[in-house]
Amino acid sequence: MIRVLVSAGPTRERIDPVRYLSNRSTGKMGYALACAARDAGCETTLVSGPTALPRPDGMTFVAVESAAEMAGAVKAAAPDADLIIMAAAVADYRPAHPSQEKIKKGDGALTLELERTEDILATLGKNKRPGQVLVGFAAETEDLLAHAREKLERKNLDFIAANDVSRSDRGFGSGQNAITLLGRDGSALDFPLADKQELAHALLQTLLRAIR
Ligand code: CTP
Repeated sequence: MIRVLVSAGPTRERIDPVRYLSNRSTGKMGYALACAARDAGCETTLVSGPTALPRPDGMTFVAVESAAEMAGAVKAAAPDADLIIMAAAVADYRPAHPSQEKIKKGDGALTLELERTEDILATLGKNKRPGQVLVGFAAETEDLLAHAREKLERKNLDFIAANDVSRSDRGFGSGQNAITLLGRDGSALDFPLADKQELAHALLQTLLRAIR
């Protein structure tokens, strides 16, 4: 049985006990991909940041909050996976010194120092085993395909799903999306604007063919 690992949703990076840094990801695209994998008969694991979506049946579900937790869960599941899709919007930065106590306001400005999180996808790319298919997402507002192809190469991916997030009718927060799937071999496949479920099904069929 083909084993598929999907990450989805945003991460939350703690500032203090009541505040965090996060992003607009709803998790819909990743959840739709995990459900499409399950429906295709794959043994599926979904590692999810905090979302408002119901937990899908018929798969292993791992709930995480921070980028560090997501890194732990994804790296633990990755060695067994034939196909890994990193659809999560992982924070690139986190507060360098999260406060144990709630930060009290003062009169002046407040500066938060941020440090880089681990690039999980880049780590997976370095440790990729032969035959494993590794897929990333690129959310861009300009020069979509050039930036996406650069990411594909830098992170040693097999595919990258390039997502134009400058448009409100697709991607972040929308029920619909359109994607260009760039392949390591130079291929570019357009998946036109569609419901995320429908798009996920079509994307998954293409990705599964790359395994066989
Ligand atoms: N990703 C990851 N770990 C991170 C950040 C991102 O695994 N710490 C993954 C995402 O799941 C996604 C891809 O990397 O599949 C996105 O690449 P990234 O370079 O983070 O994209 P942007 O954040 O859009 O990058 P940039 O700031 O370079 O535009």
